[in-house]
Amino acid sequence: MRLADKVCVVTGSASGIGEACVKTYAREGGKVVIVDRDLEGAQRVAGEIRGAGGVAEVFRANVARPEELEAMVGFVLDRFGRLDVLHNNAMYSVFSKRTADIDLRGWQLTLDVSLTAYWYGIKVAINAAMLPQGKGSIINTASTSGLFGDYLQCAYNVAKAGVINLTRVTAIEYARKGIRCNAICPGPTLTEGMKVGIEKGYSDAGYLTQGVPMGRMATPQEIANVGLFLASDESSFVTGAAIVADGGLSAHSGMRYAPGKGPDW
Ligand SMILES: NC(=O)c1ccc[n+]([C@@H]2O[C@H](COP(=O)([O-])OP(=O)(O)OC[C@H]3O[C@@H](n4cnc5c(N)ncnc54)[C@H](O)[C@@H]3O)[C@@H](O)[C@H]2O)c1
Repeated sequence: MRLADKVCVVTGSASGIGEACVKTYAREGGKVVIVDRDLEGAQRVAGEIRGAGGVAEVFRANVARPEELEAMVGFVLDRFGRLDVLHNNAMYSVFSKRTADIDLRGWQLTLDVSLTAYWYGIKVAINAAMLPQGKGSIINTASTSGLFGDYLQCAYNVAKAGVINLTRVTAIEYARKGIRCNAICPGPTLTEGMKVGIEKGYSDAGYLTQGVPMGRMATPQEIANVGLFLASDESSFVTGAAIVADGGLSAHSGMRYAPGKGPDW
């Protein structure tokens, strides 16, 4: 068991990448806390984990509310007495608007959920749990969207870029306190939500994978596998990293195939 008895909190874990992470952490012996504003979804995931013999608790929270993040850490400490892994993963984004067309509310909500909540969760977890323990691993789900610009995703791009530098600063400041902090930068990932978006025509699989050398999206499990490494002591000398799991997307210049050649050449 790679996470035996580690207490792991994952925000936004009632679906998608977060769900794959809590299930993976629980399968490896972690005691997981599913944090989400979707109580029904969180209970479903907890039921599936318990049904497979794992330990799971649910804490309903809107991560945009700092007092709910404080209550989240309080809940975890009451229930388990420690917090080994904080994985910030929940996100909201205003999409499909050009930079000059985003309204202030959409901008602020994106930054509140997808950046400020990460910082605040880190602040509370470090002060209340990880510093007193002298140990902890913080994981932030960023994105390749934090490394480069995407069309029509300005607020999301800014939030994710902020998450990457939040990760670096946290890592260097707490490196000698036993606390590590790393980010995962997934490329396009085929979650249930993404599948529905494609079916309904909100997203387009061809567009999303055209720049991915592997020619496909990640599975949520492929992203959770990176989280597992970062959560475990196997990554004990890894801190401040932004690990891409993107099928080669960020290694690609963006130019299409050599003249006259296709992707399988
Ligand atoms: N799916 C992708 O292609 C992709 C690619 C790169 C990065 N990411 C990142 O991965 C993370 C997970 O994304 P996903 O695709 O699995 O999304 P998802 O929509 O499947 O899951 C997000 C979860 O967060 C919860 N959530 C949203 N706002 C919340 C709030 N204010 N408080 C509490 N919970 C809240 C939702 O209820 C949901 O369960 C996000 O940080 C996202 O930016 C996703």
